Amino acid sequence: METAFQERSPIGQTRYQHFEARPVTGTFGAWITGIQVADALANDELFKELCDAWLKYQVLFFRDQELSPEQHLQLGGRFGEIQQLGYVGSLEGHDGVWVQEYPAMYEGPVSDINWHADSSFRSKPTRGSLLYALDVPDGAGATVWADQCAAYDDLTPAWRTFLAGLSCIHDNLTRNPYRVFDQLGGKALTDMRKFLPPTEHPVVCEHPESRRRFLFVSELMAREIVGMSRNESRAVLDFLFAHQTRPEYQARLHWAPKTLALWDNYSTLHRGIFDFGQSHRLMHRVSFNSDWITDA
Ligand code: SIN
Repeated sequence: METAFQERSPIGQTRYQHFEARPVTGTFGAWITGIQVADALANDELFKELCDAWLKYQVLFFRDQELSPEQHLQLGGRFGEIQQLGYVGSLEGHDGVWVQEYPAMYEGPVSDINWHADSSFRSKPTRGSLLYALDVPDGAGATVWADQCAAYDDLTPAWRTFLAGLSCIHDNLTRNPYRVFDQLGGKALTDMRKFLPPTEHPVVCEHPESRRRFLFVSELMAREIVGMSRNESRAVLDFLFAHQTRPEYQARLHWAPKTLALWDNYSTLHRGIFDFGQSHRLMHRVSFNSDWITDA
């Protein structure tokens, strides 16, 4: 059985009025050149073009961006409602700017090393995130994204039919409950359970804007397929985890200070590459919500 990847043309570059989008892979991701993103705060046309590019390419990368924490927050606020993460610290005086600093974060359980969509365990998962590099180890500490629209498109009709109507439990404790217990103790585990209870989402969702279908499971959060035995669920999820992260669907960003990434957190997964030992890596992240999707 042939799959769609044999017919699909590369996504290609786009010349917008304000900037150029150069593709990172054949299916998604683009480098945006020729602008300061912060200018979109006061320029509606530029912001509209950024939204168009974000919708088309799903993940946008920008080099050499001057972005203060205040501008970072304001930018997130233009895309949606700023997400207050609650369980992680914000930059002092800037609620909603999450500080991701290593090696300090090794004190807690490191989960970003597994493929995930941010906050998929919430009933309203994060719509998108803006991650900004302040200090990064030379050549190390990349982030990788995976295109879940292409991963869905490439499934055979038999698999698409099988997955339609299935749903999955997303649980923040799927991957590392033992590490949370060992590093933070039983109370932290109980509190986390209360604060972040598991949620059910369709395995295949329809994007609210592009109307494309995408896979919405991930190794970090997907605990079980509803209505299946443990073994059945394991088999289905293991296949999906391997399929959805094939190299064909991946885009890797090598950070430099002042690089910014904006991603669609519905239709892509991401993970950090923790190959930098005890070196310093400092990032600021702003995440935002909007209306959640329904079944495909
Ligand atoms: C994240 O998962 O939010 C961040 C990934 C990274 O630090 O590279």
